[in-house]
Amino acid sequence: MAPHNIVINITPYLLLLMFSSLIAIAVSDDSFLECLSQDQTATNSSDIIFTQTDTEYSSVLQSTAINLRYSTSTTPKPFAIITPLTYSHVQSTILCAKKSNFQIRIRSGGHDYAGLSYTSHDQSPFVVLDLRELHSITIESGQNTSWVETGATVGELYYWVSQESQNLGFPAAICPTVGAGGHLSGGGFGAMVRKYGLAADQVIDARIVDANGRVLDRNSMGEDLFWAIRGGGGGSFGVVVAWKVNLVYVPEKVSVFSVSRTLEQGGSSLFNRWQYIGHNVSQDLFIRVIIQPTLNESGNRTVQVIFNSMFLGNVDKHVEMVTDSFPELGLQEQDCSEMSWIESILYFGNYPKGGKH
Ligand SMILES: Cc1cc2nc3c(=O)[nH]c(=O)nc-3n(C[C@H](O)[C@H](O)[C@H](O)COP(=O)(O)OP(=O)(O)OC[C@H]3O[C@@H](n4cnc5c(N)ncnc54)[C@H](O)[C@@H]3O)c2cc1C
Ligand SMILES: *[C@@H]1O[C@H](CO)[C@@H](O)[C@H](O)[C@H]1NC(C)=O
Ligand SMILES: *[C@@H]1O[C@H](CO)[C@@H](O)[C@H](O)[C@H]1NC(C)=O
Ligand SMILES: *[C@@H]1O[C@H](CO)[C@@H](O)[C@H](O)[C@H]1NC(C)=O
Ligand SMILES: *[C@@H]1O[C@H](CO)[C@@H](O)[C@H](O)[C@H]1NC(C)=O
Ligand SMILES: *[C@@H]1O[C@H](CO)[C@@H](O)[C@H](O)[C@H]1NC(C)=O
Repeated sequence: MAPHNIVINITPYLLLLMFSSLIAIAVSDDSFLECLSQDQTATNSSDIIFTQTDTEYSSVLQSTAINLRYSTSTTPKPFAIITPLTYSHVQSTILCAKKSNFQIRIRSGGHDYAGLSYTSHDQSPFVVLDLRELHSITIESGQNTSWVETGATVGELYYWVSQESQNLGFPAAICPTVGAGGHLSGGGFGAMVRKYGLAADQVIDARIVDANGRVLDRNSMGEDLFWAIRGGGGGSFGVVVAWKVNLVYVPEKVSVFSVSRTLEQGGSSLFNRWQYIGHNVSQDLFIRVIIQPTLNESGNRTVQVIFNSMFLGNVDKHVEMVTDSFPELGLQEQDCSEMSWIESILYFGNYPKGGKH
């Protein structure tokens, strides 16, 4: 540290320009770890701080680096990964990073399409604040609300909600492995979006650690910031450590189907038709479309249009509604299956039926 100060005193600008990144890194490294180790609440810092020399560093970094394009040998790597066990660890990481000029990447589920939660797209030295250990979920029975820490996945929330009552659900991603942190920060939609809107619409309180290390709730952050964190995008306004959400009503059984038509089977005109009805049916009925290349029966390349649906009700009513609004699809009763809402999560996620997880 001393040489840096001396250098700056002698020829501040010239040398700073020439060696800035070198000096900055050399100085911040020591001071950042030193600063963190002074945190009284860090019971055993080796459990929550992973630097590049630690054997676990790579596995911790890669385990939720979902976009492999940002998981190569040339991808800029963090100086350290911090996995807080308490909110005070989050506070000290923010304060120490600021002091040492490290940027912070916040990671919950790691599903960011651009890898923004675990890499840097410029040359700035950075640390990853990985919330994986803050993943507790408390259901407030009687109130139909839940506090969800942001390191939990939405799938974990779905599971605990379904354990609470077969008439409760939560409207968020179809993909159950997305993190509650990034997902609810940006909106979040899934098979109940038509009836209940975005996951962020169900947020009624939050705990956030701001850039000054203060832990704030809805009351103390104020309505403007509370508005911004529900859709303004993760990584913009501070570290959200927990959300309080409203749970929603689901029937004991829902009905689902997945019907596929190739181009030769009229897939493109069905797709065209779907655009006119999809938004104009009962809000209990969700029909999405997936378009993908495939091989047809004679082995020729073709395109497959898959209609994937959930209805908050039974099979009979599902078939009736689709037949009324979308007769061209030719939906049959045997195309549909009845299951609980939590089973429909596995169905949409393509997990095997009745499998162990
Ligand atoms: C396979 C896959 C399936 C998907 N399916 C759906 C879907 O069905 N519906 C849908 O709406 N979206 C879907 N998404 C998009 C997904 O919701 C977003 O990418 C979301 O931001 C991921 O959140 P995360 O916590 O997993 O990601 P992360 O990569 O951890 O974070 C995403 C962004 O939020 C920031 N961030 C993370 N945690 C916090 C926090 N606690 N406080 C503040 N900022 C934070 C990060 O810095 C980053 O900028 C899917 C993405 C993938 C890769
Ligand atoms: C901290 O963890 C390390 C490695 O797991 C262990 O060797 C050390 O004894 C622990 N220290 C304390 C104070 O628990
Ligand atoms: C909570 O949800 C259950 C099941 O959906 C419902 O029966 C009950 O009335 C709800 N309670 C409150 C307080 O909203
Ligand atoms: C929407 O549905 C109603 C009947 O539920 C129908 O009268 C109306 O024409 C539909 N609108 C469009 C744009 O298809
Ligand atoms: C398969 O696709 C080819 C065009 O790629 C088409 O000529 C043929 O009729 C298709 N066969 C079936 C069985 O759909
Ligand atoms: C379809 O496949 C057959 C053999 O399976 C081939 O003879 C024919 O050329 C293919 N047609 C097209 C349009 O690719």
